[in-house]
Amino acid sequence: LHNDVTDVLKRPLSDLRISVTDRCNFRCSYCMPAEIFGPDFPFLEQSKLLSFEEICRLITLCVPLGVRKIRITGGEPLLRPNLDRLIGMVGEIEGISDIAVTTNGSLLPGLAHKLRKAGLKRISVSLDSLNNERFGLMNGRGFPVQKVLDGIEAAADAGMKIKVNMVVRKGVNDQDVVPMAEYFYEKGHVLRFIEYMDVGNANGWRLDQVVPSQEIVDAIHRIRPLEPVHANYYGEVATRYRYIGSDKEIGLISSVTQAFCSTCTRARVSAEGKLYTCLFASKGHDLRSHLRSEMSDAQLSSHIAGFWQSRDDKYSEERLKEMPQRDNRKEEMFRMGG
Ligand code: GTP
Ligand code: 5AD
Ligand code: SF4
Ligand code: SF4
Repeated sequence: LHNDVTDVLKRPLSDLRISVTDRCNFRCSYCMPAEIFGPDFPFLEQSKLLSFEEICRLITLCVPLGVRKIRITGGEPLLRPNLDRLIGMVGEIEGISDIAVTTNGSLLPGLAHKLRKAGLKRISVSLDSLNNERFGLMNGRGFPVQKVLDGIEAAADAGMKIKVNMVVRKGVNDQDVVPMAEYFYEKGHVLRFIEYMDVGNANGWRLDQVVPSQEIVDAIHRIRPLEPVHANYYGEVATRYRYIGSDKEIGLISSVTQAFCSTCTRARVSAEGKLYTCLFASKGHDLRSHLRSEMSDAQLSSHIAGFWQSRDDKYSEERLKEMPQRDNRKEEMFRMGG
């Protein structure tokens, strides 16, 4: 078969992020605002979703191209029935060294043990505030903070490593940065701050709503001193800091103020089987029709290799230069996976 592929900018393909559903029980204002994604919104029918078998065939074909890490995303991935079965199946694929799930945490209390038993060792849980009112507004469903904290505890109890993701939006939840840092310092879970991004078209993104990561580091450092830590692996998304004199860390995902496209090794596959070579792509490459055709493994694999080899995306690096008039037909994040 193939050897590891690289793209036009010499970046390897080592991560596959796979969305297993476009549905979500939250309506975060920065992702699926409730005004737009109402009760009649046409989400994908079951038959349009890749089956677990199709997902695993894709992963297996991507291993010879370089893929080692799998991340399961959504929408909300825990809404997909029997997700633990998929985790077990992916765990059996030779060459995959890491499987993680990104979730809003709401369903973890009931599912954490099952997922751990299926082989899931680490999970990222999104939480934007410890204040019920602000969190309820941000998740668009009035979903209480405590239930997400229960989910995080359930995952910790089950023995998973946890990262907590907080999207920071100026004037909305920036006041929660320090309280969140203090809370998760005590709990011992890694908290990562994500700069609010212009993904999709629905969230009405504005640059002045972004809190630069450096401001966050400065604010926390004043309360509890931090020192920088070297990257864990090539192309790590988060820049990490350690609380001095401890082994506890925070991370910053600075897609807006410090773009990390030059080491971006990630491909995304949407729930309906489209391959995206950038989070900000407007168009995906349909793989589902090929998976459901007579196409052989070798043909499908070289097809995927071809998409990667012609990839030249570096949206975040270009964003600040090309504002304001750009293609406004970007795919939504809940559809292509986070
Ligand atoms: P690990 O370091 O393996 O834990 O993974 P990760 O940090 O990639 O995982 P996670 O899903 O928790 O990523 C956190 C968030 O970072 C994502 O949900 C996105 O919001 C953002 N992110 C991840 N990858 C990219 C990327 O390639 N480009 C941009 N712009 N943002 C990304
Ligand atoms: N900007 C930054 N982060 C976002 N996420 C979803 N939409 C955005 C956005 N516009 C985050 C979620 C979750 C992860 C999947 O991506 O909060 O942590
Ligand atoms: Fe759902 Fe995650 Fe989007 Fe929030 S960010 S609406 S939890 S998919
Ligand atoms: Fe990768 Fe696109 Fe994000 Fe840049 S903007 S890091 S190329 S996904």
